[in-house]
Amino acid sequence: MDWGMKNRLSRIIRPQDGHTVMLAIDHGYFLGPTTGLENPWKTIEPLVPYADCLMPTRGVLRSCIPPELDIPIVLRVSGGTSIVGPELLHEGITVSIDDAIRLNASGLAFSILVGAEYERDTLLAFSEICDMGEEYGIPVLAVTAVGREMVRDAKYLGLASRIAAEIGAHMVKTYYCEGFEKVVEGCPVPVVIAGGKKIPERDALQMAHAALQAGAIGVDMGRNIFQSENPVAMIKAVRAVVHENATAEEAYELFKTESGQQR
Ligand code: 5RP
Repeated sequence: MDWGMKNRLSRIIRPQDGHTVMLAIDHGYFLGPTTGLENPWKTIEPLVPYADCLMPTRGVLRSCIPPELDIPIVLRVSGGTSIVGPELLHEGITVSIDDAIRLNASGLAFSILVGAEYERDTLLAFSEICDMGEEYGIPVLAVTAVGREMVRDAKYLGLASRIAAEIGAHMVKTYYCEGFEKVVEGCPVPVVIAGGKKIPERDALQMAHAALQAGAIGVDMGRNIFQSENPVAMIKAVRAVVHENATAEEAYELFKTESGQQR
């Protein structure tokens, strides 16, 4: 791995503990104006001090995020389908490597779909992204997207994560599931979990804690942070789990204290 690749990866994954809190804010690329991200900067600004990196699309990056901001960007470079269209998970490449470099991306994020009709298309497009990343020393994060029909179990997520790593991912983002240690063990690159749909804060913190215990190096979490009743308190609590080895209960207590709630 060359110096540039290692340097960018060390911006995404904190070298002090090998963990990361990535803040996913890319939802609009297939969900439109997602609740909480209608005005992206308004939501993101107070969260930035507690995130190790941001994951936006180039549109939100260019139009909503000030270029002076000192935070690494993992740029969403896949898309082309929508929540209302017929082929949600048939994503292709949406950003050229030239533009990703112009935007000073520290990493590229691409969704693959394993086990469905367009598996081959997404995996081959992903391999192109890996080649582009290698050429310029930019790490690639594979997002293991899950179709509506698919079971989020260790067998399926382990298969998708391993395939992503075999093709060339430097990191994998997947969903937490029972037996998650099997997913991590079978994946030779660092794994982060997505938060998924909004769930109660205590449950989201338990999930993050269980994922870390199973070997994940952190989270790439969106809705469970920015749709929280108190997003700043929530990202601080997630950070405590990821970087301070807090238990889920300790983190939830922190969330409540930070939210100014009575016990
Ligand atoms: C789609 C994605 C999302 O756009 C997003 O990054 C997911 O984050 P969360 O589930 O935590 O809201 O990756 O596949």
